[in-house]
Amino acid sequence: MPGVQAALSPSVHFIGAFDPMIRTFDIIMKTANGSSYNSYIVRGSEGVCIMDTVKKQFADQFFERLEKQCSYDEIKFIVLHHLEPDHSGALLDLMERAPQAKLIISGRAVMMLKALVKSEIEYEAVSTGKTISLGDKTITFLSTPFLHWPDTMSSYLHEEKILFSGDVFGSHYYDERLYDDEVGDFSYAFRYYYEHIMRPFKPYVLQALKLYKKYEIDVIAPLHGPILRMDPQSYIDKYEKWSTGAKYKKSIAGRKIVSVFYMSSYDNTLAMAEKITEGADAVDGIVASMYDLASLEEQNMIDLLEESNAVILGSPTINGDAVKPAWDLLACMPYLENSSKIGATFGSFGWTGEAPDMLQDRMRWLKFRLPVDPLKIKLIPNDQELMQSFNFGREVAEITMGKMVEMEL
Ligand code: FEO
Repeated sequence: MPGVQAALSPSVHFIGAFDPMIRTFDIIMKTANGSSYNSYIVRGSEGVCIMDTVKKQFADQFFERLEKQCSYDEIKFIVLHHLEPDHSGALLDLMERAPQAKLIISGRAVMMLKALVKSEIEYEAVSTGKTISLGDKTITFLSTPFLHWPDTMSSYLHEEKILFSGDVFGSHYYDERLYDDEVGDFSYAFRYYYEHIMRPFKPYVLQALKLYKKYEIDVIAPLHGPILRMDPQSYIDKYEKWSTGAKYKKSIAGRKIVSVFYMSSYDNTLAMAEKITEGADAVDGIVASMYDLASLEEQNMIDLLEESNAVILGSPTINGDAVKPAWDLLACMPYLENSSKIGATFGSFGWTGEAPDMLQDRMRWLKFRLPVDPLKIKLIPNDQELMQSFNFGREVAEITMGKMVEMEL
């Protein structure tokens, strides 16, 4: 094993594991630079505390590093900030080796722990403000839910001013030089991690940052990627900026945003999209825009969805289904905060015409509010049908502006 500068401070050491070859994480994230499963040991005058474990397949690395720092009978506490298997994979093995250690988890982690270990084990559930002592070292727990799972918490080591932040401030970026002032440029990985893990939970990020602000922080020790010691505040500032930006930009010059996304094979769904956009844009207080899904990158889809107050989605029906780019657009929704946007669907069709209904069903599961029935027009829209499309867009826009109607929630 290469020599790693394990010491974060006199009493804290890195005992995690490196996974340089992982290329996809949690199915959804690309990890071109691999990753690490960070765990740490904190030594006090009255024992040691282990901060998280690692993915099961990497337990050997973890135990080898741990054994260089302590003997198992010195372990007084095992803290799991987050129970996802990339951090809890070696827990049972560790508890067998250190049966005297007290396991500490967040209150929200209790059910998950039972599902994960499938056996009765002793634990203490903690919430914000709970403190444990290692004699001359004191650790306070901070509840930071949804970052990344509901169970996630952070903790703060007072004497060394180290924040153990859980997944917050993580990066999937393998580099055994370990510290932000020594590793390569991981800024893209830091942002990418935020976009995929934290972005749907911006209000929770802001809540967590408020908690962190109560403490002076010299080092941030996250669960993945570089340890942040060069200018910890700069990472906090980035999270704050990213979490307060687009979410609150829900209008352009005070107007609400209606976005019409469409695909069209013979310009018929396109003709509907144009009239729908025109109808929506005619409503005072609305700015409506249309986007051809055939040429939209995923990141643009995410940004546009985030800033839209209403999303109107159109697809022709091909072989009894909506077209793939329409499904791809809706597949971006898990990256966003669930803010109950208005939704509507439409499409021209030749034979069966199920696509708008299918998309509306999917939007229902994604918690869109759906005030109007899908608009379906057979083949080429005539003048009356184009007017119907115009009125459809106007109706959705008026509801977006607050017109009261009964709607599916
Ligand atoms: Fe790194 Fe959400 O586990």
